[in-house]
Amino acid sequence: MIFWRVKSLDAILATAEKKSLHRSLGPFQLTMLGIGGIIGTGIFVLTAEAAQKAGPAMMISFLLAAFVCGVAALCYAELAAMVPVSGSAYTYTYAVLGEFLAWIVGWALVLEYAVAASAVAVGWSGYIVGLLDHLLGIHVPDVIANGDGLIARMQMAIGMEATPDLLKAAEVGGIVNFPAVLIAGLVTWLLVIGTKESATVNAALVAIKLAALLLFIAFAVPLIQMDHFVPFAPLGSVGVIGAASSIFFAFVGFDAVSTAAEETKNPQRNVPIGLIGSLVICTILYMLVAAGAVGSFGAQPVMEANGAMISPGSAELAGKCASLAAAGTNPLVCSKEALAHVLRSIGHPAVGNLLGLAAGFALPSVILMMMFGQTRIFFVMSRDGLLPKRFSAVHPKYKTPHVITIVTGIAVAIAAAFFPVGKLADISNSGTLCAFFFVAIAVMILRRTEPNRRRVFRTPLVWIVAPLAAAGCLLLFFYLPPAAMIVFPVWAIIGLFIYFGYSMRRSHVGLGIVEVHEEDADAPPQPVPPIA
Ligand code: ALA
Repeated sequence: MIFWRVKSLDAILATAEKKSLHRSLGPFQLTMLGIGGIIGTGIFVLTAEAAQKAGPAMMISFLLAAFVCGVAALCYAELAAMVPVSGSAYTYTYAVLGEFLAWIVGWALVLEYAVAASAVAVGWSGYIVGLLDHLLGIHVPDVIANGDGLIARMQMAIGMEATPDLLKAAEVGGIVNFPAVLIAGLVTWLLVIGTKESATVNAALVAIKLAALLLFIAFAVPLIQMDHFVPFAPLGSVGVIGAASSIFFAFVGFDAVSTAAEETKNPQRNVPIGLIGSLVICTILYMLVAAGAVGSFGAQPVMEANGAMISPGSAELAGKCASLAAAGTNPLVCSKEALAHVLRSIGHPAVGNLLGLAAGFALPSVILMMMFGQTRIFFVMSRDGLLPKRFSAVHPKYKTPHVITIVTGIAVAIAAAFFPVGKLADISNSGTLCAFFFVAIAVMILRRTEPNRRRVFRTPLVWIVAPLAAAGCLLLFFYLPPAAMIVFPVWAIIGLFIYFGYSMRRSHVGLGIVEVHEEDADAPPQPVPPIA
């Protein structure tokens, strides 16, 4: 039963054909779209988290995460070019592995996209709070700037030992991340009023992000001191792979390119260029940024007195950092605005503020991309009958799937309000790694079941690359913190209840309805012509 109800690839491709009039994106725009999805909180904020796990060896973590993403992107590219329709990994899986696994993948993508949007909103908040402080002297009270204190109190309420670090976090940490809620609301509104305006704004913001990272590299790399690289891997290989699992988040988003395949000119050629081009550009930039941060400022983890590791994003670390700050020490791993903090600390406060400003302007574009991807996947799932039809309702004036956009926005805001960025990123990674794992498997299955189907882009050395992608995803998944690993199975079980309780009986494929859609989420549904 596991491989049942395979959606006809020909029906999916017919949908794509019908859309040929709407195709407008070329390879350059696609690469920009990919970079827009990729560069965000991962590099701007989670560099601190990676340093807490791996120390200077986070450079290797970046490489490892890039490698796994790279091989996964090569698998994605084959399917994205072959099945150039909306819905990303969900659609591919439907065509290859059948409805049940497609549902699981679509459900996993909710974690990827929606939780990622929350993580980026929290990352944005860190930069804005820092910027207001350093640039305008406005101190946003901690109580409305993060959820660290609430989490510390909850941990103690459920019986965790009240260590000095936890008590400190409860004392000085906040209750709710108000700026993060604000930005999630703003982006939801942008998406409801129309994606076209948002996409144009997005293009300008991509340029700002690239400029910010180049600025960081230009100011930090010349100040590299080799002694900052010693000890190189204070927490060993576990720390390095663990950091890769977290920093994997910094590369997520390239698949936004494949989500836009339906709007792409010559997708068979341009989608792979967009996917791989954006990934290569970002990997080079990230390596240089990591080298600059480690070499110019130092990136050693903060540890317990007995040398034990403190988990990044934990209330314990928040408490320890608060004590260090009171004593006048502000290591990289404690910063909520890592790159701006490095620049300010190495003697370039104005450039640090400028970078903070760029992040403040640009990170919302990532939230927008993630929420856009999320709503479109929900839209396609609803169109396939797996989710209530109401979700694919299109706004009469704005022509956007407003219902699902608002539902997604509320969920994103709630998660952003209370959780730290690193935890959200790890949870998002658990969903992404699962989706990528299935894509790698799907490529191999399709090579066997449909060997003669035309493939404009073929994953090179597929019998090496696809197994590497699948194995890499599994490796990173199992090095995630236990809490993030547990979220995924729990989420999947909820999904199974919905599938067997609702979706299975309403599935259009299950009901034998073969659909060729002329319109996508941005356009209103056409009235069905009367049957003669
Ligand atoms: N890769 C995106 C980021 O780093 C999700 O924010």
